[in-house]
Amino acid sequence: MSHVMGIIGFGGMGSYHFSQIRERLGGVVTVKGVFDVREERQQFAVENGLVAYGNRVSLLSDPEIDLVLVATPNNYHKEISIDALRHGKNVICEKPVALNSGELLEILAAAKECGRLFTVHQNRRWDRDYRIISEIVKSGLIGKPYMVESRVQGSKRVLQEWRGRAENGGGMIYDWGIHLLDQIMWLDRSPVKEVFCDAFSIFTKEVDDNFKAIIKFESGLNAMLQVDTNCFINQPRWHLLCEDGTAVIEDWSCNGRVVRLKDDTELAWDNVIVYTEAGPTRTMAPRPRETTEELPLPSVDSDWADFYRNVTAAIDGKEELTVKPAEVLRVMRVIDALFRSAKEGRSVTVNI
Ligand SMILES: NC(=O)c1ccc[n+]([C@@H]2O[C@H](COP(=O)([O-])OP(=O)(O)OC[C@H]3O[C@@H](n4cnc5c(N)ncnc54)[C@H](O)[C@@H]3O)[C@@H](O)[C@H]2O)c1
Repeated sequence: MSHVMGIIGFGGMGSYHFSQIRERLGGVVTVKGVFDVREERQQFAVENGLVAYGNRVSLLSDPEIDLVLVATPNNYHKEISIDALRHGKNVICEKPVALNSGELLEILAAAKECGRLFTVHQNRRWDRDYRIISEIVKSGLIGKPYMVESRVQGSKRVLQEWRGRAENGGGMIYDWGIHLLDQIMWLDRSPVKEVFCDAFSIFTKEVDDNFKAIIKFESGLNAMLQVDTNCFINQPRWHLLCEDGTAVIEDWSCNGRVVRLKDDTELAWDNVIVYTEAGPTRTMAPRPRETTEELPLPSVDSDWADFYRNVTAAIDGKEELTVKPAEVLRVMRVIDALFRSAKEGRSVTVNI
């Protein structure tokens, strides 16, 4: 069955959903119209053959629309999602779903009360780099993971418009942190036991514009998440340490490699000090090349449009939802703990 969508908030992301749906999801979802508080965005919608509803209620009162996408700045997500659910609509909310787990619980209570589907656009679960890392972990290619670094680094410094404002839920923890955290908590589903977060406000004083966080899982995995907006020489997007090897994804183009230990017999190390340009070392001296092998990154298939195929199949009762409210709630609770850690300047023990 084809579903009819209304979009509330037709800025950058709202119009991305629209153009992608139009190009790639014919027969699955059709966008009928939008409501945006800015006249120029209403006009843009009309130019693209969409209905521009005069206000939110008239969009939510259209009986043809059964699915609403909320793509406004973050501070409006709760109010608009609850309003849409109470009008009997199924709802996809952009990330971050809300400003804290308390707000999310209110949304989930409304979804339950109204018997409607609620999910969040955690689209980066479909990113190819993430799927490659997941495949390496799940296949056991280089053994058990114990440390993973996931970072995104840019150099634009100043956060754009509402992203730089506290009242709108701006800042990089909400903006990119939520993606990195959602990815890592979907990869390792064991309880999070401890978090630490260092947040900086270097060029945008109201909110965090750079941060570094450590997430410790019950499984033994330790994840380092980092977002920089003032970095001019990037580190790898992913660096994964497993018991039998290391994997790296360098960049957005998914260049990278895997180095695997050839066998697990301990080397009989020469007890020799190696003198390098930077000074002497014994422990860090390079291992003989023949004891390791280099492998290409595994190839994976991943298609963002599967997010929509899954949401619509879930509405039709044919599939289980991929981005589940319970998962999003766990992520939001960890986000709460990250803010607490950054504020108090210490690590926080949790059981999430
Ligand atoms: N999933 C992703 O990868 C991804 C990427 C970018 C943005 N986002 C999310 O999408 C949302 C929107 O971000 P954006 O980059 O499109 O911002 P944007 O500023 O480009 O667009 C937001 C739009 O919402 C409109 N708006 C504001 N308040 C409104 C209200 N009360 N009712 C109706 N319209 C309202 C604004 O006029 C604007 O056109 C944010 O929550 C953001 O975090 C997600």
